[in-house]
Amino acid sequence: MVKVKMWHNDGAKVPAKPQSEHKPEVVGCVSAQEILSELNSLIGLREIKRLIEEIYAFVEIQKKRQKEKLPVEPQVLHMVFKGNPGTGKTTVARIIGKLFKEIGVLPKGHLVEVERADLVGEYIGHTAQKTREQLKKALGGVLFIDEAYSLARGGAKDFGKEAIDVLVKGMEDNKDNLILILAGYREEMDWFIGANPGLRSRFPIHLNFPDYTIDELLAIADLMLSKRQYVLSAGAREELRLVLEKEALAHRHNGNARLVRNFIERSIRQQAVRLVRKTGVTRDELMTITREDILKARNSY
Ligand SMILES: Nc1ncnc2c1ncn2[C@@H]1O[C@H](COP(=O)(O)OP(=O)(O)O)[C@@H](O)[C@H]1O
Ligand SMILES: [Mg+2]
Repeated sequence: MVKVKMWHNDGAKVPAKPQSEHKPEVVGCVSAQEILSELNSLIGLREIKRLIEEIYAFVEIQKKRQKEKLPVEPQVLHMVFKGNPGTGKTTVARIIGKLFKEIGVLPKGHLVEVERADLVGEYIGHTAQKTREQLKKALGGVLFIDEAYSLARGGAKDFGKEAIDVLVKGMEDNKDNLILILAGYREEMDWFIGANPGLRSRFPIHLNFPDYTIDELLAIADLMLSKRQYVLSAGAREELRLVLEKEALAHRHNGNARLVRNFIERSIRQQAVRLVRKTGVTRDELMTITREDILKARNSY
């Protein structure tokens, strides 16, 4: 009997599907739903959520078609993530890895995050060796290359070019066992993909990560705090909005959730300093971040 693979009709082996193959279908289903709801619990990112839902549906239907011996589409799932720092790229990549494991696209689904320095070496042969090492670590999961455009920075003589060649070969050799995600600033990534025709066809899925709005950043702050069982007082939220608006005016890249996380963590420390010598601290007080904490966090910034 000829085994039909899920997406590549080129006669290679069916990817290993540990455990999940033996589980009743409904269990896998629930779990994929859980991962999708984790994705949906992220603030904003509407287009990205829609596209991932689409990829998920497509993969599931291909599986069902395969069972019915209907022809399946070859599908390439390598991606380009375009956006400023702190816009959720790594977070979404990690969720995609988990989802792909759950639906049988990847055997492991872990994320290996690298940048130019992890791939490019200092002498001839060094780059190929370093890049192969990272590919090996990522096998079965996602290799996420941050600021991937920097691989083309030095031009034709740069070792970055060698890293790209080794990556492309690694993708070909591990078709069912590896997803590559190239991430970076939008313009730089457009230039990078445009300048490397070999990459364009291999990375058909492009996701845009827009800067978050002030309201989204506030919602992200609320979410991060509630996960840690803290809340903002009304005054604290007002003050945090002012801080975020000021940040937005001061920087080109303002929709940055990482800044929010750092700021929240500083506010939590300021609350602790405020409460540590107080006697009879209530549960409410332990949970609440006040305007004063935000102001102190801002001034220690
Ligand atoms: N939409 C979102 N909702 C909630 N938290 C988010 C969201 N986007 C980013 N974050 C949080 O902000 C921080 C930075 O996100 P990250 O994925 O590392 O950004 P990037 O990789 O684009 O620099 C992480 O702590 C992440 O959990
Ligand atoms: Mg990142």
